[in-house]
Amino acid sequence: MLYLLDTADLVAIRRSYDLYPIAGVTTNPTIMARENTKFLPRINEIRSIIGVKAMLHVQALSKTADKIVAEAEYLNEKVGGNLYIKIPVIPEGIKAMKILKEKGVKTTATAIFTPQQALMAAVAGAEFLAPYVNRLDNMCVDGASIVREIVQLLETYHLPAKVLAASFKSVEQVHKVSLYGCQAITVSPEILDALLKHPMTDASVSQFVQDWEKVYGEGKVTTDLG
Ligand code: E4P
Repeated sequence: MLYLLDTADLVAIRRSYDLYPIAGVTTNPTIMARENTKFLPRINEIRSIIGVKAMLHVQALSKTADKIVAEAEYLNEKVGGNLYIKIPVIPEGIKAMKILKEKGVKTTATAIFTPQQALMAAVAGAEFLAPYVNRLDNMCVDGASIVREIVQLLETYHLPAKVLAASFKSVEQVHKVSLYGCQAITVSPEILDALLKHPMTDASVSQFVQDWEKVYGEGKVTTDLG
């Protein structure tokens, strides 16, 4: 499983990078607008926190293939590192994915709501496919089952693309796509923390410390003892 952070909040990125095995950061136009700051400086700050080897996914805004390609080349020049250009699965987006594949520019197909959208993007050369799990669930469609079908299609057709499931609002949604063999997820810092949270874990840790300190002294740890 590749864990990615779906945020442009620098404090949250620094904290999660320090604590967790994070493979990269994803952004989208809404996430960037929420930060209400200069676009390129913020993207480059994220790059400097995560380093050049980590994945950084940045979305193009244009609606025609030639302009999407121009955005992709601009971002690769200005940001660089292990960069993925997120492109929605509209017809001009698929065309842009084909062109960028030829040019050696990595892409992530986004705004995916059906397995067939994902399949075509994978055939066009996208490296990652981003289905929106919670937005599907909110339309009374089981988002996780769409992820499972995409995983199956990639196996059936021996396509190298990976599923980067997105738009999560619960641990249950993450758990279901994990069971279905989804290769990557992008989640908010809050959902990432929630993946680890369990009251019994906290209670067990407290009990261990309490028992230990009765014998070895308050605040003592293994390295304090001979
Ligand atoms: C990532 O690719 C998506 O843009 C993002 O996860 C969408 O999340 P949302 O449905 O919470 O806006």
